[in-house]
Amino acid sequence: MDFNQSTEDNLFDRARIIGKPHARIDATLKVTGRAPYAYERHDVVANQLVGYPLCATIAKGRITHMDASAARAAPGVVSVVTTLEIEPLGRAKSNVALLFGGDTIAHYHQAIAVVVAETLEQARSAAALIDVRYEEEPGIFDLEAAWQRLQNTGEPLSDVGDVDAAFQNAAATVDEVYRTASQSHAMMEPHASIVDWSDGGQMTLWTSNQMIAWTREALATTFKIKPDTIRLESPYVGGGFGGKLWLRADAVLAALGSRASGRPVKLALPRPLVFNNTTHRSGTIQRLRISADAQGKITAFDHSAISHTLPGGSGENPVEQTSVFYAGANRRVAHHPIDMNLPESADMRAPGEASGLAALEIAMDEMAEKLSMDPVEFRILNDTQVDPEDASKPFSERHYVECLRQGAEKFGWEARNRTPGSTRDGQWLIGHGVAGAYRGAPTMDSGARVRLQGGRLIVETDMTDIGTGSYTIIAQTAAETMGLELEAVEVRLGNSDFPVSSGSGGQFGAASATAGVYAACLALQEQITKRLDVDVAHFENGRVRAENTDLALADIADGEELVAEDTVHFGDFKDDMQIGTFAAHFVEVGVHAYTGETRVRRMLAVCDAGRILNPITARSQVIGGMTMGVGAALMEGLTADLERGFFVNHDLASYEVAAHADIPQQEVIFLDTKDAASSPLKAKGVGELGICGVPAAIANAIYNATGVRVREYPMTLEHMLDQLPQA
Ligand code: MOS
Repeated sequence: MDFNQSTEDNLFDRARIIGKPHARIDATLKVTGRAPYAYERHDVVANQLVGYPLCATIAKGRITHMDASAARAAPGVVSVVTTLEIEPLGRAKSNVALLFGGDTIAHYHQAIAVVVAETLEQARSAAALIDVRYEEEPGIFDLEAAWQRLQNTGEPLSDVGDVDAAFQNAAATVDEVYRTASQSHAMMEPHASIVDWSDGGQMTLWTSNQMIAWTREALATTFKIKPDTIRLESPYVGGGFGGKLWLRADAVLAALGSRASGRPVKLALPRPLVFNNTTHRSGTIQRLRISADAQGKITAFDHSAISHTLPGGSGENPVEQTSVFYAGANRRVAHHPIDMNLPESADMRAPGEASGLAALEIAMDEMAEKLSMDPVEFRILNDTQVDPEDASKPFSERHYVECLRQGAEKFGWEARNRTPGSTRDGQWLIGHGVAGAYRGAPTMDSGARVRLQGGRLIVETDMTDIGTGSYTIIAQTAAETMGLELEAVEVRLGNSDFPVSSGSGGQFGAASATAGVYAACLALQEQITKRLDVDVAHFENGRVRAENTDLALADIADGEELVAEDTVHFGDFKDDMQIGTFAAHFVEVGVHAYTGETRVRRMLAVCDAGRILNPITARSQVIGGMTMGVGAALMEGLTADLERGFFVNHDLASYEVAAHADIPQQEVIFLDTKDAASSPLKAKGVGELGICGVPAAIANAIYNATGVRVREYPMTLEHMLDQLPQA
């Protein structure tokens, strides 16, 4: 199916099943522990061994000596594969550094050996017996030092109008530097795989991954084998957040271990190795300048930033939203990824925007204050309905102003105290903050297959459900299209035997994968119409009705299975517009007057993200994003050892994330705007929107509570302790 123009009104507008708050169809399996995650698939293949990784303890250099003989002789050990002994592996495009092989160390905790044994304990204790020596080279680990050296250098990504002239003529300007921290996805399920490559021929993986087709391709490149000799299953994923977009060392080590031992091998990255062995979101340092005229209209943005990456990577680009979010005739953005030797930085939930809006939306608050304007009204005044860099490109749908207005009303914004540091509740200073959020709404081509078996419909696609609700919204899409009840649909996901889908990433999954399932259902309808030899047929209440026909779907094929498959292709008409998602976040905090401890008291998000396919799963995505935003604001930050080049707090005891008890009240409102340019279902993603803007809303609330402007995340108490108002 080609999606080459904005959709007309269609069957989804009747919203019989789509748009309804159906509980997750996989909920019972999950809460009863029966949804099998990668490491728990004890029954898929017999004779599983356990692999344990050994990882490098230098950040840069080479291995000069490695002796695994004691490990090989240890009890229960079946095989040991070291990085010095294998033939060179290929490097998949998506991996900036080699995942395994050779004597060169590119980052701390790079995998250098895998021990395969009968039990986990045997493998782990044997791994400790491997003797490794290194020749260490100096590395570059300090982003702050790079900023002092490199700020304001490099080519802008875009440069429109005359930014410098606008600043000269401005009535008010903001010019500040903001710092966001490096962050870990910290998903509950670590990277884990069971691999059966025991004869070195066909390879089967039971793994935990967001992108089945990419990972199959990456495995083929890595092992220099044909993709069709590889099978992957990843039906349940215990969180990914971008950390499982790609092939990682768990699968590579398990595959090598399986080939060496002639038996299937399972391997999970131990939690303390996840943080430095896999990817993380790079910290950023950003300078933001905004200029405005006396009426409060923004005249220029100038946003430049650095982040870190291993050589060859792209870092965390936090400036792009500044090109599109607000009006303003003159604008320049620049991002310079700095080659450094910390572990590999890559995508994490709303890559770019999450960090960029953390800075931009504080700067907007600072500008509103300079102009003596209400920060909600200031944002409304600077709304735009066209791409501010290219007025010929309208936003397909943009209801940001409504998000702000409705949020302000529901939150009770008018009642807040506008004088910072002047509201007390016992020992707590109380403050309120607002911030805006923008995240793009991309779509990716996506395929599916449907099988009609009697009155039951089976949907197969390699789409993944990373805790997002894919199973449920896909079932809703198929049931709606075919005129079936939800219970008549069975959804099978995350299997490389199924048609290639968008996968889960970039908040493109929901809109893309449901469109692919819709396309496959239409192909099935066409097949049925032909079979009945009619021109038009209607699918309702489990029946198909045409000219002289009224049949139950169950009776169409006389017990035979009908199979149809299709892929939705999204056309380039979308390039002529901006398709995005928007939100306004409102937060109330209490900051302890003596200790500076910040507690979130309540949060509200109002979101504009197209048709909401299922309010339960969508809300769950947004509150999950908001919760991660609270973590980013107040506690999450990977601390680099600047001499040895690794993240020191590499476990869940020292890398703190926000949890339920940190947020007593959290509310989400969806405007449920339909976006006909986005997808046949008029849907857009919400999975990344929820984190965007939240850190700034909290920073602005802290300012309102205390009068202390914090421009560095996480906003731990030492940033404000000595500036708190006299208690
Ligand atoms: Mo997302 S950071 O593309 O999983």
